[in-house]
Amino acid sequence: MCGIVGYIGQKDTKKFLIDGLKELEYRGYDSAGIALLGCDSIEVFKAVGKLVNLEDKLNNNSTLNIQNSTFSTGIGHTRWATHGKPTEINAHPHLGNYSFVVHNGIIENYKELKTSLQANGVEFLSQTDTEVIVHLFEKHFEQTNDSAQAFKNTIKELHGAYAILLITKSEQNKIFFAKSGSPMIIGKNSDEMFFASSDAPLIGYANEVIYLEDGDFGEVTQDNISFYNEKKQIWNKLQTSKQLAQKNGFRFFMEKEIYEQSDVASDCMLGRIKDNGTNFDEIENSFFDNIFDIKICACGTSYHAGMVGSYLIERLGKMRCSIEIASEFRYKEPLLLKNTLFVVISQSGETADTLEALKMAKNAGLKTLAVCNVDNSSITRLADVTLLTRAGIEKGVASTKAFSTQTLVLWMLALYIGTKNKALSDTLIQNELHTLRAIPKALKIESIMHEKCKRLSKRYLHGHGFFFIGRDVFYPLALEGALKLKEISYLHAEGYPAGEMKHGPIALADPELFTIALMPQNLLYDKIKSNVEELSARDSTICSISALPFELADDFIQINTTNHYMLEFFEMLVALQLLSQEISIRLGNDVDMPRNLAKSVTVE
Ligand code: F6R
Repeated sequence: MCGIVGYIGQKDTKKFLIDGLKELEYRGYDSAGIALLGCDSIEVFKAVGKLVNLEDKLNNNSTLNIQNSTFSTGIGHTRWATHGKPTEINAHPHLGNYSFVVHNGIIENYKELKTSLQANGVEFLSQTDTEVIVHLFEKHFEQTNDSAQAFKNTIKELHGAYAILLITKSEQNKIFFAKSGSPMIIGKNSDEMFFASSDAPLIGYANEVIYLEDGDFGEVTQDNISFYNEKKQIWNKLQTSKQLAQKNGFRFFMEKEIYEQSDVASDCMLGRIKDNGTNFDEIENSFFDNIFDIKICACGTSYHAGMVGSYLIERLGKMRCSIEIASEFRYKEPLLLKNTLFVVISQSGETADTLEALKMAKNAGLKTLAVCNVDNSSITRLADVTLLTRAGIEKGVASTKAFSTQTLVLWMLALYIGTKNKALSDTLIQNELHTLRAIPKALKIESIMHEKCKRLSKRYLHGHGFFFIGRDVFYPLALEGALKLKEISYLHAEGYPAGEMKHGPIALADPELFTIALMPQNLLYDKIKSNVEELSARDSTICSISALPFELADDFIQINTTNHYMLEFFEMLVALQLLSQEISIRLGNDVDMPRNLAKSVTVE
């Protein structure tokens, strides 16, 4: 996820920007840049890769070193690529003729805006959505000769999510800002104002902060803020722990990432949900011509998301879809036929087995598509098409937000295929779109749910194992729940299709065997209910996760009543993640870095 910093005042602008960007490194990035403004001159520096590359450029610039003190205004950015590759041109700040902008988020209507600006002769340098902002601003400035009005007009035209800082030679002692959907904080000290995406860069610099809310926009000088939306200024004391600030106040990165899922789900869907179906700018119209079936290949959590995808692609896409674990696929001498689309899923884009499976498919001449979180990773460079999950960096070794965004992308893909093949009724398409739009809300965590998981966790620290059971898409969810628990608690857990229990595993049932039963109200409820009754009759301890109370359950985690099983799916996902985390904490384990595991598995 991108990071933003800004400064206006008489101290060392460059130093705050670079120090601030370093504090935001934890958000993940693949390029960085700063723009400095003062005494009629504007300077911009960008570099691909780590911040040290940007610092080298700054240190080697002799003019800058002489003039540094004259730059009283500056903006900086670390970019996590979403539109366009991680190149220097695509790095922020983006420039017009006399203005610069940095932006975090996604401008959903950038294509329409870009086309209209191009029709009026504006030339674009980058492939990003962000660049439209600076050209729009300059267009409006030329019409009004008023920077504030030009900024207001610009913001009015943007749809999507954004945190924006803009500086311009036409108004040298100001920074214009706007926030909708992406985080942004203003900090102040005497005669200095700061901006940052989170608290961490401000600690040690600012005394007080305002946490901007969606819809806030305005301008700052070094000693004043004007909100164009007439917001009341409420200043808060700034916390002092940088470590805590990087985790946004959460105890672990995993916890922060579980809580981030609602926001990243919105980012993941931005621009991809249209009135009549789903759309991916990345996929050309002819891409699915002559494709008769889909093969998905992945490892671990990504494999579980792929399993969910395979149910949805057959159900909604009306296309045959199979899934394999990449390490198995590689050595089975698989039959690869040209009419198969080969899909790989990977958070890191570097998993060795998944990458090798992709190479095999490419060598066999198959069309390939990657669902991935890291642009410019080995997998995205190799696949014909990549659908980025836009989850931002995932630091916790146990994958959480990667899974939810992968599942969302595959669901949108299933709907895309079904709509394209005219296999779905309008009513069904509208119902799916409506449900997709409701997912960010379903992923918002109610404190009562977290409290319940905390309380229950103390009852699940012993025993001889866990069965997570579910049917249909709740079966891969059960697998994912079991994987999360074993990874961070080191307790034995298995996921099972609920209907399979009586074919052997039920022999293990006794009071010391814990069953976590996923019981969706909207999908095969009666079927799963009888499977759970069978386990209860053998005295297994049952914890049901459902909207409906179940009289035979020993414990119950209640989710909200909804009318679509995928809403239940995402609510249950959060409950499973939180329960695992709370058990792990009680056992005294390192939640973010569990033993024996690595975040990126680049060996087979
Ligand atoms: C589980 C987990 C792993 C990864 C697997 C694949 O929490 O993180 O199971 O899902 O190693 O990694 P990626 O998705 O990077 O290919």
